[in-house]
Amino acid sequence: MNEPLPLLPLTLKDVSFEAGGKRLIKDLNCCFEAGPRTVIIGPNGAGKSLFLKLCHGLVPPLEGQITWNDSNEISSRFKQAMVFQRPIMLRRSVSANIHYPLKLRGILKRDRISLTEEALSRAGLGRLREHPARVLSVGEQQKLALARAWALKPQVLFLDEPTASLDPAATHAVEELIDAIHKQGAKVIMTTHDLSQAKRIADEILFLFRGRLLERAPVERFFRQPENDLAQAFVKGELLWWRLGKANRKNQRKRDGDK
Ligand SMILES: Nc1ncnc2c1ncn2[C@@H]1O[C@H](COP(=O)(O)OP(=O)(O)OP(=O)(O)O)[C@@H](O)[C@H]1O
Ligand SMILES: [Mg+2]
Repeated sequence: MNEPLPLLPLTLKDVSFEAGGKRLIKDLNCCFEAGPRTVIIGPNGAGKSLFLKLCHGLVPPLEGQITWNDSNEISSRFKQAMVFQRPIMLRRSVSANIHYPLKLRGILKRDRISLTEEALSRAGLGRLREHPARVLSVGEQQKLALARAWALKPQVLFLDEPTASLDPAATHAVEELIDAIHKQGAKVIMTTHDLSQAKRIADEILFLFRGRLLERAPVERFFRQPENDLAQAFVKGELLWWRLGKANRKNQRKRDGDK
């Protein structure tokens, strides 16, 4: 597991993705180094989840290349993890949800037991260890998904809106876990709709709009003064007008003029 070859950098070169005859990701070019936490923001349908899925190898690009420093497909897969908005739970107990993936990765039994215990305690899930994971609340499942990721010690962790349906306390707990995973050395690449969360977590922001990467900037600069006009509108909560599309905008202007 602890091979010396680092997984990062990850490089995307001219990456496009198409489905249903529509180009959903367009000419993406970017590179991710170890370290800074990256938060991807943008309106609904911008392609944020697709972007993560492409990077994590869940969907293949139509054009372009996605390359990891560690080009071995199996070892590079083992060095990364992804947590989805609706966490995927095995039909097993809470502790087995952490233990079993460790077993699949060939980790020794005594290490599996201690890693599982530590992950449960970090996530505050110790008292639920024997419960079936699928009966947990969404917030508890999200904590379990992160505890499982923590135990796997990934070099890169992808998170797709990990707190989208959580209350403030659960959101705080999940953010603490993300912080712990980052401090453990993982590169965090996540999406969120919560701009305050982006400010709390991010070192840098990527702004996606209609499948294009329109801006990438350090978090402080991005929120102070985004360079891209659509990013500016998005940060101010004014993007609705831009999302109407050209034809609709024309009709809207006409309607506005008619009033
Ligand atoms: N497999 C697919 N087939 C067809 N269209 C798809 C597919 N996957 C995604 N899309 C479309 O691609 C666009 C981008 O989807 P994606 O889920 O990446 O958006 P998002 O930025 O994550 O949005 P949200 O903020 O709502 O989560 C959407 O219009 C979606 O309907
Ligand atoms: Mg999404």
